[in-house]
Amino acid sequence: MTDKTTPRHDTTTTIDDFTAVADVPRRLFGSFVEQLGRGVYGGIYEPTHPTADTLGFRRDVLDLVKELGVTCVRYPGGNIVSNYRWEDGTGPRELRPVRRELAWHQTETNEVGIDDFYHWSKEAGTEIMLAVNMGTRGLQEALDELEYVNGAPGTYWADKRVANGIPEPMNIAMWCIGNEMDGPWQVGHMTPDEYASAVEKVAHAMKLAESGLEMVACGSSSAQMPTFGTWEKTVLARAYEYLSFVSAHAYYHDQDHETRKPEGMREFLASSEDMKRFIATVAGCADYAKAQNHGDKDIAISFDEWGVWYQDIWQKQEAEWKAAETEGLHTEPWPKAPHLLEDIYTTADAVVEGSLMITLLKHCDRVRSASRAQLVNVIAPIRAEENGPAWRQTIFYPFAEAANHARGTAYAPTIDGPTFHTETYGDVQALENVVTWDEATREGLILAVNRNPDAAHVLAVDLRSIIGEDADAVTVTHAQVLHEADPYRTNTADDPLAVTPRPLEVSADGSTVSFALPPISWAAVRFTA
Ligand code: AHR
Repeated sequence: MTDKTTPRHDTTTTIDDFTAVADVPRRLFGSFVEQLGRGVYGGIYEPTHPTADTLGFRRDVLDLVKELGVTCVRYPGGNIVSNYRWEDGTGPRELRPVRRELAWHQTETNEVGIDDFYHWSKEAGTEIMLAVNMGTRGLQEALDELEYVNGAPGTYWADKRVANGIPEPMNIAMWCIGNEMDGPWQVGHMTPDEYASAVEKVAHAMKLAESGLEMVACGSSSAQMPTFGTWEKTVLARAYEYLSFVSAHAYYHDQDHETRKPEGMREFLASSEDMKRFIATVAGCADYAKAQNHGDKDIAISFDEWGVWYQDIWQKQEAEWKAAETEGLHTEPWPKAPHLLEDIYTTADAVVEGSLMITLLKHCDRVRSASRAQLVNVIAPIRAEENGPAWRQTIFYPFAEAANHARGTAYAPTIDGPTFHTETYGDVQALENVVTWDEATREGLILAVNRNPDAAHVLAVDLRSIIGEDADAVTVTHAQVLHEADPYRTNTADDPLAVTPRPLEVSADGSTVSFALPPISWAAVRFTA
């Protein structure tokens, strides 16, 4: 079977010039689970669901998480972490307190906490990246949590973990020092100087306890924040010695999705241009901090929130809530597992996420960890129906392909092909591409998108410089394309397979692989040589 679209092939672009970027870090295929809406409760956890295991976790959701190929999961937030008490989520469930959660205005039952999430992660085969509360809490609670989670038995908090049924240290290496602490919406938000001082102290003390920890400082909440750049320079220069990572967060959406104006779609399709600039600026700040400290290490980027999020829908919902609030004391309900941020993704969204993944791979010398936000129900590739099935959103597919098959070294191409015009970024390349090649197994992956909404393009990828002059001809083992005549087409609970990748027709001639990319499409070609 081949893709049935018959695009207009305006041009053929040949790529034969590649730069080896770096080894592909497994952590690049991370995700994010926050106790937000139905991300946890009604997402990964639903004790009354027919597939629930003895701890209440849904098996059908877990199977999809494994299929997605997620390697590392950031937890427990997100905005919630800034008013979260980690110890509430430990020990016997029936004794755990129920609390008001301020960030998303919901009730936190604490049925799921670090004990349970640790068990879930072992089942999922994923590493945990743990975030500590820097909003309502600070150094002492972070140290206590570290001891509880990683401590060898024999001290107070470590023994509590043992008493709670987890004898072995969890060995969590990556620790986020708060979340988006520059954001005025964040509980306990800080100025750059305040946060720099806090990070220096927390990271220093946590590394006194365990020198091998990899500490992640919050970067700016987005490149649009007024202190973007200043924040990074201040924090990284001050705490350079103790830091392994600085976080970056970026969400994109089609600003004209309601009216479906073509202009909005064009800008949206070029979103990865923003991500490229973002990475370059943050990397520049990390270099500044290194120079200021006469250092010899690079602070890497943890792109620990990225993806498509229709923030305007959330902002409207939030505004309605606020308008409905009564005067004086707040008497409104604090819902349990409310339906929040449950975006349904289009085909174009999947193409944009495909191009963002290509961008992360092309910059994996600086971006050594990333978390697509989030995992289940909340701006997520996986949907879980209450007491019903779980299904894949359109954005599931580009992530899964990269997570499961991008191995070895990432190669960034030089592309001089057709362009299309955007207001924000000017003329941008229609085609984006990255190749990964694992010399040990001699298996490779070509990922490509055509961002042009108006024309199809043929891409010819000559892999000779990657696979070696003496290699035999390339053999294509699998090729697929994601494209719909209607770029707004989505999957739904009733039709969960409406948008899925289809087999892609490719021709392999010696070391060159060629294929046509319809307008607004994502493609992946696996090969051996
Ligand atoms: O992922 C949703 C929210 O986006 C997170 O809670 C927060 O960190 C960011 O603003």
